[in-house]
Amino acid sequence: MRSPSFLPSSFLFATLYLSVLRVASLAPKGEWTFVQNGTTGITALEAILVSPTLILMFDRVLGDPLQIDGHQAWVELWNLETNTGFPLNAITDTFCASGALLSNGTMVSVGGQASELPPGVTVPPDADGRMGIRIFEPCADPAGLNCTLFEDPATLHLAANRWYTSAIRIFDGSLMIIGGTHEETPFYNTDPENSFEFFPPKDNGQTRFSPFLARTVPTNLFPRGFALPDGKVFIVANNQSIIYDVEAQTETILPTIPNGVHVTNPMDGTATLLPLSPPDFIPEVLVCGGSNSSDATPSEELSSQDPASDQCTRITLTPEGIKKGWIIERMPEGRMMPEMILLPNGQVLITNGAGTGYAAISSVSDPIGNSNADHPVLTPVFYDPEASLGSRFNREGLPTTNIPRLYHSGTTMTPSGAIFLAGSNPNSGVVENATFNTEFRVQFLNPPSLSRSRPSVSRVPEKIAFNEPFTVDIDIPNDLNTGDLKVALMDLGFSTHAFHSSSRLVFMEAQLSGNQKSLTIRPPPNNRVYPPGPAYIFVTVDDVTSTGTRVMVGNGASPPVQDQGVPLVS
Ligand SMILES: *[C@@H]1O[C@H](CO)[C@@H](O)[C@H](O)[C@H]1NC(C)=O
Ligand SMILES: *[C@@H]1O[C@H](CO)[C@@H](O)[C@H](O)[C@H]1NC(C)=O
Ligand SMILES: *[C@@H]1O[C@H](CO)[C@@H](O)[C@H](O)[C@H]1NC(C)=O
Ligand SMILES: *[C@@H]1O[C@H](CO)[C@@H](O)[C@H](O)[C@H]1NC(C)=O
Ligand SMILES: *[C@@H]1O[C@H](CO)[C@@H](O)[C@H](O)[C@H]1NC(C)=O
Ligand SMILES: *[C@@H]1O[C@H](CO)[C@@H](O)[C@H](O)[C@H]1NC(C)=O
Repeated sequence: MRSPSFLPSSFLFATLYLSVLRVASLAPKGEWTFVQNGTTGITALEAILVSPTLILMFDRVLGDPLQIDGHQAWVELWNLETNTGFPLNAITDTFCASGALLSNGTMVSVGGQASELPPGVTVPPDADGRMGIRIFEPCADPAGLNCTLFEDPATLHLAANRWYTSAIRIFDGSLMIIGGTHEETPFYNTDPENSFEFFPPKDNGQTRFSPFLARTVPTNLFPRGFALPDGKVFIVANNQSIIYDVEAQTETILPTIPNGVHVTNPMDGTATLLPLSPPDFIPEVLVCGGSNSSDATPSEELSSQDPASDQCTRITLTPEGIKKGWIIERMPEGRMMPEMILLPNGQVLITNGAGTGYAAISSVSDPIGNSNADHPVLTPVFYDPEASLGSRFNREGLPTTNIPRLYHSGTTMTPSGAIFLAGSNPNSGVVENATFNTEFRVQFLNPPSLSRSRPSVSRVPEKIAFNEPFTVDIDIPNDLNTGDLKVALMDLGFSTHAFHSSSRLVFMEAQLSGNQKSLTIRPPPNNRVYPPGPAYIFVTVDDVTSTGTRVMVGNGASPPVQDQGVPLVS
């Protein structure tokens, strides 16, 4: 059994009983609010937090208003302190690319599409992005001054053309790059790149063929992969899943997602690795939404009105859990292209997406304008991984928005605890008069903690070593019950196409001092439990969460890094 606060269960039982009244009277859950603030100059179809104050966003080259050097920009840096953005230069096309942070804090964007020139453009601003590698070095200036994207396509590129690929940071701090397609395909993956590769490269830059990817065409774009606490990688695509051993180069087949539900692009469901807790860090994966339509059906026979799947399935990645297989749950409504965001208290927020239809643009029999999807779902829902089966979904305190977030949206948690929501463009260019427009409005979904006095943490080291406890100062408002204290170490992930790659939450053991003024925290045991690299530490007391403080986890060296810390004993 996983217990959130690492206390003996008898103690938990006693405090649970005592805390019923306290929770009701002293720590009301409170209301979440959607606040619109600022507009982007590109569609935020990819988004990643690259520093405590900056979000980097990527788009395609097809008419966005943001300009740089006399042509359209397709990369924008968003300043969370001013809620304004400015353009960055790029050489290659970043449409439907992926990315992640490395063990040394550098952000790397990979893949993209072949160059695409808007009508009338004669000076080509963008080069073929399918082998693109784009480097954004750690940016120290809070406003992003002088921070740039570096590209040199002639000398620095992937081994294969990859459009709609995924990238995740693995145990040695490198990126594992998974699958993709070669050419523009109207809907399904009909020209797949069924291989893995790495950045920095392994195997002398050769790709590794994946039988799993070959089995999962034509519905395997943006495969959802997660680094597991033993260093292996779980991947789900279409309705199948595997564990890939990066070192032994073996694929172990796991049970199929039940009921014919497909969960990757163009039938986008979403997936997350649930929070990992000490001492055992037992991995569990949750997969939600998508579609149970047959992927043998030509897209022009599918409809924007086909119901999206309301199915969630969850698997525990231990021998016993795998034997049990996927356990089925149901969301309150179906969702195509949902987003799942891990919250520092261990809950999962599910937001965005549509009640019917599919991902991609203008490929079904009856698109709404250009959108293959219809009936936007405008109210988020919580999933509580610790609640019992059948009572894990709730909507307490969650508001409804009036901004649909459909295909080509980007969403990420921010260090304040607010969730940044941007993008949505189920069109091939900028469209302003359709049912589902190109969406430039930025929103934040603000948690109740933002309007309360919150715990605050200071004197946090910039770098923490695996398994070596460190002590921080903490200030906890008097009305909070310190018996309920959680410390989360989080990677906030790279968001695109209903997937937050590298997103991760590892709970850390923590001991409050007698005077409640300092907190001693034990980092994860090793670089497999938390792939080495940047993270944010959030402290939640009595369900009120501090702001997140950025730390570098591990030695901060460039990948591939050596194993660090101590092995997990099972
Ligand atoms: C929008 O963001 C700016 C900059 O952070 C802030 O000053 C302003 O209060 C925000 N407006 C709203 C409505 O939250
Ligand atoms: C940015 O670069 C300019 C010119 O090199 C320099 O004068 C300035 O100090 C730099 N600003 C920051 C914040 O690094
Ligand atoms: C999984 O999807 C494939 C098509 O991609 C289909 O043939 C197969 O029946 C599905 N399996 C299950 C168990 O639904
Ligand atoms: C397919 O999914 C829809 C929406 O969740 C559901 O109504 C329908 O019963 C499912 N069909 C099958 C055969 O499972
Ligand atoms: C939107 O505007 C364009 C250009 O003015 C026009 O061609 C198109 O028909 C309009 N679409 C809708 C849905 O009104
Ligand atoms: C991090 O490592 C990558 C890959 O080797 C390299 O391109 C980048 O310059 C490094 N960044 C820093 C800050 O060392």
